[in-house]
Order: sequence, then structure tokens, then C-alpha cells
Amino acid sequence: MRELQIADPAGFHKTIVAWQKKEGRHHLPWMVHEAYLRWLSEIMLQQTQVSVVVDYFARFTQSFPTVKDLAEAPETEVMRLWAGLGYYSRARNLHRAAKMVMTDFGGAFPETLEGLMKLPGVGRSTASAIGSFCFDLEEPVLDGNVKRVLSRVTAFDTAVDSTEGDKALLALAKALVKGDEPGVFNQGMMDIGALVCTRIRPKCDACPASDICRAFLAANPEDYPKKKPKLVRSDRTLKLALVEKEGKCLLVQRTSGDIWPGLWCLPELVDAPDRAPVLRIKRVLTHLNLTIEVYRTENSETLDLESKEVFWVEKTQTSATNDLPLPTPIRLIFEKLAESRLL
Ligand code: ADE
Repeated sequence: MRELQIADPAGFHKTIVAWQKKEGRHHLPWMVHEAYLRWLSEIMLQQTQVSVVVDYFARFTQSFPTVKDLAEAPETEVMRLWAGLGYYSRARNLHRAAKMVMTDFGGAFPETLEGLMKLPGVGRSTASAIGSFCFDLEEPVLDGNVKRVLSRVTAFDTAVDSTEGDKALLALAKALVKGDEPGVFNQGMMDIGALVCTRIRPKCDACPASDICRAFLAANPEDYPKKKPKLVRSDRTLKLALVEKEGKCLLVQRTSGDIWPGLWCLPELVDAPDRAPVLRIKRVLTHLNLTIEVYRTENSETLDLESKEVFWVEKTQTSATNDLPLPTPIRLIFEKLAESRLL
């Protein structure tokens, strides 16, 4: 993969900063230099739109004007105010982080990237946002919107949701954020991503970077960002037989060229029985939506056991604690059968 570069990174930085000051968003209630307010808004903005965050942000800051107020609040109160925003681990982390600021950082937010990233719920991108807005850290925000902007400007042909793509974009973003007012630069990149360089029908005529944007110049901005191909899962139903004899249960070793080669499993039924299964479970495997049905079967002649290794296992040996080489769903089936006293 080629290294991602922009011909004039310093010029790009200046262009974005100037654009943000003129055309970007300025009047959102958290656009102040106070780390508590920036942190609170960034956590809310992680998975929620700006328009929704505005109301929640107002209610939170009214109830908890300082990080100390938030740290001292009962968790139920924090959760109550968060209700409706979703992704509730954010609220629990928020509360834990506020307590950590009070106990580990003497009541003031840490001013380094590493320090900020110690707070629960604060990853690299959120730490970079807070750090650049409040402490002028030259650290890039690289959220989905910014990735889209950079992938178009550079006509980046690698999937942005791959490790390799992420690494290359982060290296480029690190180079571009260097310069004056890194917080304004980061906000500008996010604003362009949200308002101009939109996923569909980007407004390239309003974009300050269109003159150097390789996707715009090739007239195909919507071809970016490239994503990993979506996984296609097929549906499959495995009909398995529960054959019991003298306290033992029949297992067969699965053959190669199918799921679970070499592992031991209940035998597959050749024909679908016209009765209800004793158990049905569904599992999502990497390439398969798998339904497993288990039928109690008296007659092992209905099974295809030809050229298969078979093994009569003691029923007591099928519990989760033994170390038979069983696929996980089959282990689960044995647990469920035992729980329901079907085995
Ligand atoms: N999403 C995450 N952080 C944001 C910010 N500072 N402005 C707009 N959208 C955002």
C-alpha cells in the first residue's frame, strides 16, 4: 500500500482552519475551552447526532455544572438523565471517569493524550478532540466523517475499515493536524465531513479542498470511502439425531470439506423427520446462519454412518466440563438437553 500524502500539508491545514472560522459550526453550547464541557459533549457525540445531543447536554450541565457535581451524583441519577441517548455503557463510563478525574487527577482533566486516554470511555479520537480543543494538542480526530474526507481527497483505494487503511489514514491525519490551532483544524475536518463531504451527494462546489481532491477531480467522490466487502452468510439447517443406548449417546466424527471437520458431533439425519425436534438452536457463524435441530431417534439405520468414525460417549461425559473435541454449539446442545432432562 502506498503511503498516503497530500502535496502541501501545511497549506491544507491553513485552508481548513480558515474555512472552519468562516463556514464551520461555532455556536454549539459546548464550544468553549473548558475540558469538562468538551469531554461531556464528545462522549455524547460519539454515537449520537449533534441535534439530539444539544438537549441532553443542557440537562446534564444544569444538573452537574462541574465534574465534581457529576462525580458526587448517585449513579441512578446519571443513568436517569442519560435515558434515551442509548449505548448506556457510555453513561457508566462517564460517571467512572468523573470520579477518576476527582480522585486520580485532583479535580482537573489531564492535559496530555495519554492522560486523557486513561479515562474510561475516552479512546484516541475522543482524547484528541478534547486535547486539541482545550490544550492545543496537535492530535488528529479520525472519526468516520474525517476518514471519508481524507479517503476522497487522496482517492484512497484501501478499505478504511481495515487495520491497514486505518493506520495509513491515521498517519496522514497526524501530519495534517500539525500547525496553528489544531482544535480549529479538527473541528473543520469534522464540519466538512458532516456538512459538505457528505456520504451521498457531497457538495463539492462548497468544499475548500476541492481543488486538490483527487476523487472530485476524477468526478467520483461517491466511490469513496472504500469498505471491506460485506460478509454474506448463507442459511443452513443441520438436523441431528440424539441416539441413546445403555446410558450412552452416539457421536460421529465430522469429515473434511464441511463445517467442524475432525470434531465430534451428533450424527446427521439423512431425511427430515416429520415430527418436531426436541431442541432447536440458532447460531451465527462467520459464513453461516446456522439452525440446529435435534431429533430423538430410536433407529440408527436412518443415519448416514458410512465410512464415519463413531463413538458411544457416556452421557455423563457430555457435560461442559469434559474435554471432548466438540464444536461449541454442540456443547451448548448437550448443556440444554441436560438442563431440560432430555439426556
Ligand atoms: N462528533 C464528535 N465530535 C464532534 C464535534 N466536536 N463536532 C461535531 N461533531 C462531532
